Amino acid sequence: MSFRLLVLVSGSGTNLQALLDAVADDAFGATVVAVGADRDGIEGLARAERANVPTFVEPVADHPDRAAWDAALAARIAGYGPDLVVSAGFMKILGPRVLGAFPVVNTHPALLPSFPGTHAVRDALAYGVRLTGCTVHLVDAGVDTGPVIAQEAVPIQDGDDETTLHERIKVVERRLLVEVVGRMAREGWQVHGRHVRFGR
Ligand code: GAR
Repeated sequence: MSFRLLVLVSGSGTNLQALLDAVADDAFGATVVAVGADRDGIEGLARAERANVPTFVEPVADHPDRAAWDAALAARIAGYGPDLVVSAGFMKILGPRVLGAFPVVNTHPALLPSFPGTHAVRDALAYGVRLTGCTVHLVDAGVDTGPVIAQEAVPIQDGDDETTLHERIKVVERRLLVEVVGRMAREGWQVHGRHVRFGR
């Protein structure tokens, strides 16, 4: 039986698209069973619909507080029985109910632990670093603090702005995310403290 991925998105969903393209090949060893979002009307959901993947939307504003949203999101996710949740441009902090029930990987557009949070590309440019990149990591209760699985560097070029730099990072990020998720599906993984190793 194929390894079941559930992907969470908040925006354009190009990382999701890379996963949808990858799972089209049976050798990848995984399927996307559903795509969830915290808002409606985004391209990420349209991408899922075009690929005939079920979608759901769970906005924070539909709930009295974060804890209620977390419980509702966990229940939605559980309904699809995923083996792994992939946060691919999902711009909300996941709560304990989701994180307690499923392994979650996130892709982040910086070399963590530098520049966590929602403006990683802008923050790296403002700091003046010459090298940034992307990180695929397991999600824990903190903000972009979970164990790192894979990272790749992207040099900053003179004249880069947030858009040009982010686009170059995303080219690398999509390949890295697909590579990591594929290996997790096919090989399994183990966590030893802050270290993640593929294999069972
Ligand atoms: C990606 O660069 C992802 O790393 C970033 O949002 C972009 C989503 O692109 N996520 C974060 O900044 C999370 N803090 P996409 O919607 O085209 O996949």
